[in-house]
Amino acid sequence: MIPMAERLNPFPRYRQMRRMAPLLQDPQSGVWSAFSYDAVQRVLSDYEHFFSGDGEHHPEDMGPGASIIGMNPPDHRKMRDLVSRAFTPKAVQNLGERIRAIIDHQLEEPMARGSMEVVGELTYPLPVIVIAEMLGIPAADRDQFKVWSDMVVAGTDNHVSGYEGTRAMNAYFAKVVAERRQHLGEDLISSLIEAEVDGEKLTDPEIISFCDLLLVAGNETTTNLITNAVWTFSELPEVWEALRAEPARIPAAIEEVLRFRSPVQAMFRSVRVPMEWEGKHLRPGETVIAWIGSANRDEKKFPDPDTFNMDRRPNQHIAFGYGIHYCLGAPLARLEARLALEALVERGVQRFRPLLPKEQWEPVGGFIVYGVKRLPIAWES
Ligand code: HEM
Repeated sequence: MIPMAERLNPFPRYRQMRRMAPLLQDPQSGVWSAFSYDAVQRVLSDYEHFFSGDGEHHPEDMGPGASIIGMNPPDHRKMRDLVSRAFTPKAVQNLGERIRAIIDHQLEEPMARGSMEVVGELTYPLPVIVIAEMLGIPAADRDQFKVWSDMVVAGTDNHVSGYEGTRAMNAYFAKVVAERRQHLGEDLISSLIEAEVDGEKLTDPEIISFCDLLLVAGNETTTNLITNAVWTFSELPEVWEALRAEPARIPAAIEEVLRFRSPVQAMFRSVRVPMEWEGKHLRPGETVIAWIGSANRDEKKFPDPDTFNMDRRPNQHIAFGYGIHYCLGAPLARLEARLALEALVERGVQRFRPLLPKEQWEPVGGFIVYGVKRLPIAWES
């Protein structure tokens, strides 16, 4: 889809594609790609024409594909209502203090050293610890999550490891859910067990699929949001200076990172009914890729799109999706990113200096999630 060599900078290719047409079909695979802002927005939100997942909800095959993100109306509405009861913005706001404590702990050694591997020391552990704590998962099992969620994300390139990762996670969560049914606690899994809308509750497979999704959809993405922010500020020291001078601008800077280096570059849909669009014929069952990373660089929507400008008002990026599937974790991701960047400002970190030459930067696995595997940096403070 995107050649390996271009994965850290797919933007010139997107621009070329947008110039050709808002909607293109790969002659070999038959897969459609939407590149313009308007087309991507429509593919993401027009569920009359585009299905999420394979268009059917199979509660018995667990995994992120079968969970809320792969569901369609009317099932999606019920599921969204149910999980929203447990995963509320208020529940997230209450996590602030705990998130700050995790960040303080992660930064302790790097600050003493004057350098850090941003991914391994801060941006990977942070969201995993936060979500694992929300789910009530013991600390001892957390390393295992990295292995599983990496396998699932890499599954976009290699279906075998993706499937194994999902299976291993499901088995683990099945055990935890069974335990919680016996002893309800204060954690998110217990809230999911208790959630009820119109007399309906979530089944075990539905809860398990949702937990899988939180780990996969919530971790890699948030990791890359914060890593991509540090990466961007290492290239634009004047932006970091401005944030140090005025930390109240951090939320706006995060929105611009979401647009400029969107952690999720693409989402899939399948065509639901025969349709004609942009003079092309789409047939039921055909796959459509909504290139969010391209939409967020569309010059028709964002003037001077390849320039990082945190003063864009409005900044209507669609990094968290658009429509009924709009990211449920957006408040959590924004909170973690803000607290992490505030912590670096508070510690007087000046000017990030990458310790690896650009040629050695490695993109994360798959073409959906966008970021680097490792980002070793030093700073003056
Ligand atoms: C910067 C971080 C994140 C980004 C860029 C991101 C991006 C997205 C996108 C693009 C979608 C829409 C998918 C679609 O339309 O098919 C989505 C949905 C979702 N996200 Fe996130 N996400 C992030 C963090 C999180 C976190 C932290 C969580 C939870 C802990 C989370 C949970 C979800 C869930 C449950 C959905 C499905 C909602 C539904 O189908 O109704 N995400 N996310």
